[in-house]
Amino acid sequence: MSKPTIFAVSNQKGGVGKTTTVVNLATALSALRKKILIIDLDPQGNATTSLGLKRQMGGKSSYSVLMGRHKIQESLLDTGIPYLYILPASQELLGVDLELATVDGCQFFLKKALAELNDFDYIFLDCPPAVGMLTMNALVSATDVIIPIQCEYLALEGVADLLKTIEKVKKNFNPDLKIKGICLTMYDARSNLSKSVVQDVRSYFGSLVFDTIVPRNVRIPEAPSHGKPVMLYDFKSVGAQRYVMLAKEVLNREKEVQNG
Ligand SMILES: Nc1ncnc2c1ncn2[C@@H]1O[C@H](COP(=O)(O)OP(=O)(O)OP(=O)(O)O)[C@@H](O)[C@H]1O
Ligand SMILES: [Mg+2]
Repeated sequence: MSKPTIFAVSNQKGGVGKTTTVVNLATALSALRKKILIIDLDPQGNATTSLGLKRQMGGKSSYSVLMGRHKIQESLLDTGIPYLYILPASQELLGVDLELATVDGCQFFLKKALAELNDFDYIFLDCPPAVGMLTMNALVSATDVIIPIQCEYLALEGVADLLKTIEKVKKNFNPDLKIKGICLTMYDARSNLSKSVVQDVRSYFGSLVFDTIVPRNVRIPEAPSHGKPVMLYDFKSVGAQRYVMLAKEVLNREKEVQNG
């Protein structure tokens, strides 16, 4: 099997739909029989709990793998969903910035761990809402970045900083890093603000923005409390259907890249 595509899903602004996009895009791709791994890099552990699993403490987790204490292969959990696996978060991730502050080459720790994996099609890195060592490790390991942007007030806040960080990472550590796409989330068709955010983001980023827009849909925040992706909670909901559309669009973009 060839090397996996590794998506860092990142935006330093909080609550914009990063975790929701990771969990539901990953699930939609797994339904298309792509073998998927989610790596939960957020101390909050929302991707882990959204899939009905527990955030680890002291055991095998993204933290222990990052620190070189466990091998990644032996630390993955089965989500119970065919083709979908997760490396769960640990609260210990909270200490990573301090622990690694003076450690040489610490930007490459995740990349090193991932080099041992070759049996996945796609790996999703769920980043915390901050540009610290965890996001840095994600951007250094990734082949592509997906940026969720919430169709709300101050939507672009923080995106300029993220773009600067991506440029810095490209220059210093990961020259082939690409932005796969910008995903507009929590769109409210009745709100003029939502419409104007879509217009602004599209006029600024052009074709980088995915055609698929994820609307605000109540099934999406309900699903994690049942420990399920929205596709398994309510497949017919507009939220689930849009993430299926987004998955198809991501696959099409992959094909376009392969065909040059
Ligand atoms: N399309 C949507 N419709 C309604 N609610 C949504 C939608 N997308 C996400 N949410 C809800 O918004 C909240 C924030 O989403 P999410 O946790 O995915 O954001 P995040 O960027 O990962 O946040 P953080 O920065 O804290 O990691 C969650 O409660 C989630 O269920
Ligand atoms: Mg999150």
